[in-house]
Amino acid sequence: MHRPASPDDWRDVNRAMWDERVPIHVASEFYDLDAFRGGKDSLRDFERAEVGDVTGRTLLHLQCHIGLDTLSWARHGAAQVVGLDFSEPAVEAARDLAADLGLGPERASFVAADVYDAAEAVPDSAYDIVYTGVGALCWLPDIRRWAETAAHLVAPGGFLYLAEFHPVTDMLDDETGSRVAHDYFDHTAWVDETPGTYTDAEAVTVNNRNYQWQHTLGDVVSALAGAGLRIDFLHEHEVTLFQRYTALRRGEDGYYRMPAESPRVPLMYSLKASRR
Ligand SMILES: C[S@@+](CC[C@H](N)C(=O)[O-])C[C@H]1O[C@@H](n2cnc3c(N)ncnc32)[C@H](O)[C@@H]1O
Repeated sequence: MHRPASPDDWRDVNRAMWDERVPIHVASEFYDLDAFRGGKDSLRDFERAEVGDVTGRTLLHLQCHIGLDTLSWARHGAAQVVGLDFSEPAVEAARDLAADLGLGPERASFVAADVYDAAEAVPDSAYDIVYTGVGALCWLPDIRRWAETAAHLVAPGGFLYLAEFHPVTDMLDDETGSRVAHDYFDHTAWVDETPGTYTDAEAVTVNNRNYQWQHTLGDVVSALAGAGLRIDFLHEHEVTLFQRYTALRRGEDGYYRMPAESPRVPLMYSLKASRR
C-alpha cells in the first residue's frame, strides 16, 4: 500500500503558517468580511446548485478556515453548521463572525482540531452533509485516512460534497497551463517557503515554510469509494477561482478560464458521495 512521504513536523509547521495568516485574511479585501456581514454569499454558484437545498439539514465543514463558507450554508437554511479547523486563530475568527451574524452556538459552532481527529472533536457523531474544499486536500498527507474520517461522519442517507482545484492543474506550467511540467503521480511532500499569502502576496510573514501534497483524482475518488461511500457524480470544471496560469482570463462572472483559442484543461472538480 502506498503511503505518501510526510515530514514529522508537518502539522506544527503548517499550523504556524496558517495561524500567522489568519489576521491578514480577516483584514483582507479578498475575504471582505464587511461585505460578508452585509449579506454577501461566499459560496460558488455551482456548489449551491450541486449541494441543493440545505434547509433543516446538519452540516459539518472540514478545514473551514475563518468560517465564511460554513456560515453561508447556515444563511442558506442549514439547521446546524459545525466548522472544524486546526488553526485556533481561524476558529476564533469564525466564532466572532458567527456572533456578528447573530448565529448562536446551537446554529453555528466551531472547533479547533486536526481533521484526522474530527470524529472525536465534533459535537455529533454524524451529519447530513459533510462539506469540504477550495484549497483543503493539498494540506493533508494521507488521503485514505482523510476519506475514512470524513465518510465516518456522514449520517445514513447523507452525503459528502467536495469542491477542489483539479490535480491536473499542478502538473502544468505556470505560464500557459498547457505543457506538462510536473509529475502528476508525485506523492512526496512539496515544500514551499513563499512569504505572503494568497490574499496579499506582499504581506510580511515569518512562518513561511509549509508542506503540501498532490492527490490524483483517482486517489480521491477511490479513497471515498473505499471508505464505503457511493460516488453520485464527479464534475470537472473549465473554470477556477484565481489566476492559476498567466494565460487565464477573468470573465464577467468572476471565474478564470483558458482564452478562447486555447485547448481547455480541467481547472476544478466537484463530487458528491452518499452513504446509503
Ligand atoms: C485554504 S484554507 C481553506 C479555505 C477555505 N475553503 C476558504 O475558502 O476560506 C485551508 C484551511 O485548512 C486548514 N488546515 C490545514 N491542514 C489542516 C489539518 N490537518 N487539520 C485541520 N485543518 C487544517 C488551515 O488551517 C486552513 O484554514
